[in-house]
Parts: sequence; C-alpha cells; structure tokens
Amino acid sequence: MKIFITGADGALGIAMQNALRQEHLQFFATDLNQLDITDIKKVNETMLNHHPDVILHFAALSNVDACEREKNLAMRVNALGTLGLAIASRKINAKFLYVSTNFVFDGAQEIPYSEYACLNPINEYGRTKLLGERHVREICDKYFIVRTSWLFGDRSKTYISTFLSEKNKPASINVICDQFASFTYTVDLAEAILAIIKSENYGIYHIVNRECGSWLDFALKAKDLLHFKTELNPIKTEELNLPAARPRYAPLESSHYQYLFNRTMRTWDDALGAYIKSLQ
Ligand SMILES: NC(=O)c1ccc[n+]([C@@H]2O[C@H](COP(=O)([O-])OP(=O)(O)OC[C@H]3O[C@@H](n4cnc5c(N)ncnc54)[C@H](OP(=O)(O)O)[C@@H]3O)[C@@H](O)[C@H]2O)c1
Repeated sequence: MKIFITGADGALGIAMQNALRQEHLQFFATDLNQLDITDIKKVNETMLNHHPDVILHFAALSNVDACEREKNLAMRVNALGTLGLAIASRKINAKFLYVSTNFVFDGAQEIPYSEYACLNPINEYGRTKLLGERHVREICDKYFIVRTSWLFGDRSKTYISTFLSEKNKPASINVICDQFASFTYTVDLAEAILAIIKSENYGIYHIVNRECGSWLDFALKAKDLLHFKTELNPIKTEELNLPAARPRYAPLESSHYQYLFNRTMRTWDDALGAYIKSLQ
C-alpha cells in the first residue's frame, strides 16, 4: 500500500508519519513547501507520478480566526484544494481520506453530534471544510471523511498544547470555560486512520477521544498530572472578541467507527495522561 500525505508537517501529519513508520508502510509526505495543494497543475502531475493507493489529505488552513480574516485563502485551501485533490484521486483510483471538523455543526443542540446530525457551520473555517466534504462525496467513490475535534499532541498549534510543551510556564493564563467539545490525541487519531484506510468501509466517521469538556477542564486535568504552578483563569469566549464565532457545544459521537470496526477510543483524560507521559 503506497500512501501519500498532504499537510504532513502539521500535528496530525507528524503523528501519522510515526504510525506508518511503526508499521513499515511506504509513504510519501508533503507539506506546503513540496506541494501547495492549491496548485492544481502540480497536484495532478504529482499524483500521476506517484500513483499512490491511498491519499491522506490533512493540509488545511486550520486556524479558525485566520479563516475568518482571510476568507479567500480559506476557500482556496480548504474547499478548492480539496476539490483538486479529490479529482486527482479519482483519476488514479486511489482511496481518499479527508480530515474534517466538528465545526461543520452549529453547536446549538444539547447532545453530541452523530454522523447523521444536520450540518450548519457558523464560521468560515467550518463552511470551507464542509465544501471540501461535499467535493469529496460528489467526486470520489472510495472516500473516507473523518471528522475530528480539538487535536492535542506534538506540534499541535492549539493554545493549551503549546502551553503544555513550554518548559518555562507563565504565572497565569486565561482559559476558555464556556465552549464544550471532544478532544482528540493525534496519536490515537492516526491509529484509527490507519485501521480505516486498510479497510473498504467507505463513508463518514467521527473520530475523537471519548467524553467531552471545556479547555478549562482539559487544563485542570493537565495541572493535576503535571503539577505546574500556573494559575488558570476561566474566561468566557465573548471576553476574547475573536474574529470567528465558535460552536458552544459540539462534541462528536462516534458510532460508525465503533459499529464497523468494533473499536472504541479511550477517554480524553486517559489520552492526555499518555501524552503528558511522552513529554516527560
Ligand atoms: N487542529 C484541530 O484541532 C483540528 C480539529 C478538527 C479538524 N482538524 C483538521 O485536521 C487536519 C489536520 O489538522 P492539524 O491540526 O494537523 O493542522 P496543521 O497543524 O495546521 O497542519 C496542516 C498543514 O497543512 C499545511 N498547509 C496549509 N496550506 C497548505 C497548502 N496550500 N498546501 C499544502 N499544505 C498546506 C500547513 O502549513 P502551515 O502551517 O505553513 O500553514 C500545515 O503544515 C486539518 O485538515 C484540520 O482542518 C483539525
């Protein structure tokens, strides 16, 4: 199985490369420097040259506020970039795995979002990632759409992941306490993606660690485990005046993965424990 990765230097890309190496699988890793996914000519040439069996499409403009500020770029990378890759993937008859987000949901319901829930993004990131999903569904026969949420792990750019990996921690930080979602350890997500691409169980998956919380819950658990002194100040989303709206409650329920693979993800606090162990 020859595997091609876009966005391979991102948080998920790095975890995926490690997982593939452990299984001695052949892969070709690219990021912006090697293959800009918005360069349609190069995308086509590269896919025809490499002719992979599987394309793992992780590249994205993943910063939610940057997507709001740079709407055209978000559209080019997240929607059009995915369109070009989906077409190239179909030409070479490769399996295509696209990573999407819980931000395709509006966060207005009171229960976790299943794979069947209504899609209604409330920011540019969610809207452009959903356009990417639609292209994949319309163009590819052999596709997997993996929606995930709040990644943590090595190289993750989320505020708390960056904080956790810092050696000299500040005296205090503000942590958002009024948004709730699922957390996902990149190592666990990469392992699930590996199982999925080995199969022919095409379709949509929600892959996250079990149970949900706020970033404050996450930071408090990390403080318990790491014993750092930094004071954690709860802060409400509206106090931050961020460019992009956030879903208030958008945990994911992963029924397809459990049903088709007979596997469950561990809870996020177990996964956080494993991540912190790896940092020490
Ligand atoms: N992070 C999360 O919490 C989260 C949650 C749900 C879903 N996801 C999705 O999961 C996937 C992986 O996320 P991640 O956290 O690993 O993201 P990431 O760390 O931002 O990695 C994405 C990579 O894609 C690269 N990239 C950006 N524009 C590109 C282009 N035009 N051509 C080629 N590469 C380009 C980025 O480079 P630069 O860094 O130079 O821009 C980065 O290295 C993404 O599709 C994201 O939408 C992430």
